[in-house]
Amino acid sequence: MHRLTEQDNKTRIEVDWEPIGRRATVAPGMTLLDAAQRAGVELIAVCGGVGACGKCRIRLMQGELTPPTAVEERALSPAELAAGLRLACQARPLGKVKIDIPPTSLSTPQRLQVEGQESEIAVDPVVTPVDVTVVPPTLHDLRADTVRLTDALAAQGVPRPFFGQPVLRDLSEKLRAQNWSVRLALRRRNHGAEAVGVLHPDQALLGLAVDIGTTKMAAYLLDLATGYTLAKAGVMNPQIAFGEDVVSRIAYANHHSEGRQALQARLMESLNALLAQLCREAGVAQTQVVEAVVVGNTAIHHFFAGLPVRQLGESPYIAAASEALSLCACHLGLELASGAQVYLPPNIAGYVGADHVAMLLATEAWQAQRPTIALDIGTNTEISLVVEGRLLSCSCASGPAFEGAHIHAGMRAAPGAVEYVQIVGDEVRLQTIGGKPPVGICGSGILDAVAELRAAGIITATGRLQMSHPRAVPWDGGGAFLLAPASATGNGHDLLITRRDVNEIQLAKGAIRAGIEVLLQEAGLTAQDIDTFIVAGAFGTYLDLESAIRIGMFPQLPLERFKQVGNAAGTGARQMLISAARRRLATQIGERVRYVELTVHPGFTKAYMEAMYL
Ligand code: FES
Repeated sequence: MHRLTEQDNKTRIEVDWEPIGRRATVAPGMTLLDAAQRAGVELIAVCGGVGACGKCRIRLMQGELTPPTAVEERALSPAELAAGLRLACQARPLGKVKIDIPPTSLSTPQRLQVEGQESEIAVDPVVTPVDVTVVPPTLHDLRADTVRLTDALAAQGVPRPFFGQPVLRDLSEKLRAQNWSVRLALRRRNHGAEAVGVLHPDQALLGLAVDIGTTKMAAYLLDLATGYTLAKAGVMNPQIAFGEDVVSRIAYANHHSEGRQALQARLMESLNALLAQLCREAGVAQTQVVEAVVVGNTAIHHFFAGLPVRQLGESPYIAAASEALSLCACHLGLELASGAQVYLPPNIAGYVGADHVAMLLATEAWQAQRPTIALDIGTNTEISLVVEGRLLSCSCASGPAFEGAHIHAGMRAAPGAVEYVQIVGDEVRLQTIGGKPPVGICGSGILDAVAELRAAGIITATGRLQMSHPRAVPWDGGGAFLLAPASATGNGHDLLITRRDVNEIQLAKGAIRAGIEVLLQEAGLTAQDIDTFIVAGAFGTYLDLESAIRIGMFPQLPLERFKQVGNAAGTGARQMLISAARRRLATQIGERVRYVELTVHPGFTKAYMEAMYL
């Protein structure tokens, strides 16, 4: 092995990779792609670094690189080159450089790591601490514990808070165990405050923000004093056992006695386990969590809150409640501080919930000055169009295909999942997560594969496979395309894209595009009028925009008009956890939205049929 000499060390060049914050040195003459691979930065390089795929784009922020090669001049426009964009497999650093990696150039897991950054908003939570020490009782001082505490608070100028039964169950024991000193968590009410937790004076007040999707949920543990996220984690939504989409879960609840209760109990069980995991990671107690914010679509919201769902599943799909709610965690079965409340922001309609409100809040899309589309792709895709102060929203059933479900070789974004595909002649180039032999295909991979199959003329605009292609194989009536033979995969099975897979993608992308078109029609706009196109959600973070445009899921717009923002619903939930002002804004957003019901819209069927074409 070559050991670095002192001379080597002197000549090595420092490369600073942003926004993942990794710094490493490289030998002179190395390409940035080599440098990235050595530093563990997972850049997409479908062509293996020969300059053919154009996926390894990076931007020079500081320092100097070798001049653009002929390959780069072909792959990048003069404007892109002028803006500092380069191909990592072509450019070599000439000295210390700082490189910005656009999210679209990062592999899926690293892209998900950098999404959902901290919010820069003023911290103003609805729950704040008050430390108080009381005089112990004696035979000559027989005041009740609450009176004793209230008197001590009054001496500090704090008005008497309300004590609910859950806190009263805790209070006496805590006072005695903690030598008569406690940190009270006080939650603001319309008039005065309510005690929601009794902590040790050394314990910080924490909050929990949860984004519950139909398929996955993400939870964040925050310090309410600083707004800083202490731990975050994601798991599958356990309600999947009762149905893949909310419609089938509502049907389950309607057709089984105690069905709705079973769905709620399963959710709480999983959330409590997730909370315990976050608290373990952060080294804190669950009883320090004095407030929670939960966002989800309207059906999930109702299941979570224990509200009836029958009317949500029947036309005209009416929510039991759409206003913001604060519910006692202990009544819901969520194991937080004894009196902690769970805040549920307002819903918009039967199928557009508080998660969409949270996304509009976090991205600031709701107050865009120029026409803006903001959508959150999931099993249900919610779409909003903001134009001249108006907010139009709709929801479309895009199905779970992008989560890897209903796809023959579908899998979640894990090592060995194909995430990018390039077809050149009869050759198929695959990039998998972690560079492992392929074992399946994740959402971004299937989208890419369909776009490449269509571009290469291997499937028609209706999704039919040309069986004359050497990689076409008979399969279940409609045929399949061999992405990788068994000898090249990690599980010894052929990796196939079937005709049925292509159809699933057509249905999903058709629903999304039709939703966009209907909103544009409602506003009297065309796709070209869209100034900003915001794509939220985990899948939205790692999908390849060019592929999404090529298959017609998104309109043909310049790439710079798109913004991939990660789990913005989770960010919005976090903002509402640490800021009362953000809650008020969320309520305003909920009130301003005009919901457009696609199923009865005169333009929907035509838009959907057209959008099914590839
Ligand atoms: Fe740079 Fe393909 S890796 S263009």
